[in-house]
Parts: sequence; structure tokens; C-alpha cells
Amino acid sequence: MQFENNNIFTTKLSDIIAFANFLGKYEAIALHQEIKDKNGNILISAKRPLNENLVKSLLKRDLDNLGEISLVISNTLRDAIAERIYKEFQKIVNLGEFSFPAYLFEKKSLDLKRIIKVTIRNHFFLGYLIKIIFENKNIKNHLIEVSAIAVGLMANLVNKNYKYGHFMRLFQAAILHDYSITNNPNWEEEENFEGKTQHDIQSAHAISGNELSSDISEMILNHNHLKQSFKKDESAKEEEEWFENPVILSSVILNLVEYYTHAKRIISQQKGNKDEMTLVSYQIALQTEMGFFPIRLLRLFESYFTKYTKFFKYGEEIAIIQNACQYKKYALAYPKPKATQILCKNSKVTCEEFRLYGQPLMVVVPESDTWIRLGENIPPGWHDKCKLSLKLPKPPDNF
Ligand SMILES: [Fe+2]
Ligand SMILES: [Fe+2]
Repeated sequence: MQFENNNIFTTKLSDIIAFANFLGKYEAIALHQEIKDKNGNILISAKRPLNENLVKSLLKRDLDNLGEISLVISNTLRDAIAERIYKEFQKIVNLGEFSFPAYLFEKKSLDLKRIIKVTIRNHFFLGYLIKIIFENKNIKNHLIEVSAIAVGLMANLVNKNYKYGHFMRLFQAAILHDYSITNNPNWEEEENFEGKTQHDIQSAHAISGNELSSDISEMILNHNHLKQSFKKDESAKEEEEWFENPVILSSVILNLVEYYTHAKRIISQQKGNKDEMTLVSYQIALQTEMGFFPIRLLRLFESYFTKYTKFFKYGEEIAIIQNACQYKKYALAYPKPKATQILCKNSKVTCEEFRLYGQPLMVVVPESDTWIRLGENIPPGWHDKCKLSLKLPKPPDNF
């Protein structure tokens, strides 16, 4: 089956049957062209709803070289497609159960089905979304998870007068956020935060010719890059700006959701991690407190993952100590996640106040947590300890 914007077509009856089975609704499909046998007898009429029994009875006949047959893109077909896409969302993010997205959605009774319906009125989305789900692309679950969580977070952040259009555009941006790696079977390798990938920028450029709002490109532009723009010492006014501007708000949300799904994937792949959320909650709390994400978003994670409160808290405490460096950037808790020391990243700086004289610490290998990037690596060698070491909290039990 080929999906090109507003055109769904094939030359094979078997494709049409596969697509009808996928939708679970034969009668939603009508063909632009009739299908005839070798003698010119009409087997399936044009522009009439397909009859399941009739179509299936033709299965054994050699009808796989029909010339181009395209589907009538009617409202009935669109509705069936929207229904099918929604079902996939329910399945992947357990919308009926008490999952994180389900929690976010239920609290605000957001109508995801409506968002999907309106989104696929746009030809580009219709083709793109149906292709991803019908062809069961590797990246499918990721796109669905990111979209559902992103929209759910937005609904819980803003007040109820917020325009539906903003939810819609964030949803669309989330669906397209990894556009340039959609067909890459190893798409996960591109999803890093170490500054080694350009797929976010490439995706933003690649979608820009498709009659979409330019806001969407802007929202996804740097979703795998991090900026320390939420420092506590910045003016409250600046903090308001990200929140008041729906495009910036959407890009901030996408950035965090991408980071969250990335951390979850990496940590669960590492050996010995039975419960990846202990480290994930620690990690996103630490990075939020370091200024990479806004605290308001972190609170939404905390309000759902209450089982992990102490891990969030521990991450925040570590970051608060790092931030207490008088230069704001040289203190580094080491090792991670269970820090026993605060090291100074700059041995040349004069720091009467904080340097802890005595035995420096030998770092043999650079920190292995490069997946978090964020300029936190410390090179091998001797490093001075900082007096802030004395303030380090005890890590939670079972961490
Ligand atoms: Fe990405
Ligand atoms: Fe992604």
C-alpha cells in the first residue's frame, strides 16, 4: 500500500484486503476504480463501500496486477482511520489504565480522539501517521508515547481556556519530531543528548515544505539539544516567557519528554537496573534543578511517580549543592548517581572559600554517564575536593 499525502493506492487486491483488515472496517473503504476479471466482468464496483464477504471470496483469484487502484478519501474513511490510530494510542500508552499519559489525560479530560481527527484532515499527517502505524515502523511506539505525554503535560500546565489549536500543534510537532529518522531501523542511536546528532534540526527543515504551520518546525528544532535556560538566578520575567509563548512552551515540553523517554530507554538497557524509574526520576530532577528544564514540569512527573519521591528529592539536593559553587559551574558531584564527593572542575580557579585542602581525588576514568551529557564530564586526573562535599545527603536506600 502506498500512502502519499491524500492518495492511498496500490496495484494489488491483497493490499486492499490487508488495509481493510487493519482498519477492521471493510465498509469504510471505497475504490476510485472498479476491479474487473479477465473477461471484463466487474468484480468490485467503483465508489461503493467494500463488502467483506465479496472481497474475501476473491482472495484466491489472481488479482495482484490491477493497475493503480486508489481509495476514496471520504469522511467515513477518515473517521475509520482516526479510530484505528486512537486504538493504537490506547494500546501503546495504556490509556485505559493508570499509566502516566492516562493519568495526565484523565485529570484534564482531554479529547485525544478529537485531536487525532482534526490532525488527519491535513493530507500530510494522514499519509504519515497511517504509514507509521500500518507498516508498524520501529519508531511507532516512541512517537505515540512522546505525543501522548507531551499533550498531557501541556493540558496540566495551562488553564482551561487554553486554545485547542495549541494542543493540536504540539501533538503534530510530537508526531513529526523525529521525521528524518522515521525510516531508520536504528533510530535510537540518533536520540542522544551529547551534541552528536543533527536529526532534530534536519527534521525541522524536512517538514517545512509540507504546508504546515512554521510553528511546528520551530517546536522540534532543538529537541535533542539542551539549553540551561531555567537558572534560578534569572529574572522571573524570563521564566514567564517560555510559559506564555505557546511555541516555546511546546518546545520545552518536547525537549523534556524526549529526554525522559531517552533516559528511560538507556537506563533500562543497562544491566542490573530492575526498576529504571529510580534513576530516571533522580536524573530528571537533577537536570531540572541544574536549569535545563522548568520546575513546573518536573512537579507533574513527581505528582504521578509518587513511589519515587525520595529519588526525585535526592537528585534535586545534589543539584542544589552543585549550584552552590560560587562560580556556579565548577562543582561536580562525583561519582554519580551516589555522590561521595564534590570535585572542582577547574583547578586553576582561586577559591579560598570552598576548596577543601588535603588529599585531592584521582579520577581514573571519565564519568560513564555520557548519555546525560550536559557538560558534566570530568577528565581523568587529580581533582581538588570542594568543601561542599560535607553537605552531601545520604542516598536513598536501595539506590
Ligand atoms: Fe529526537
Ligand atoms: Fe524522539
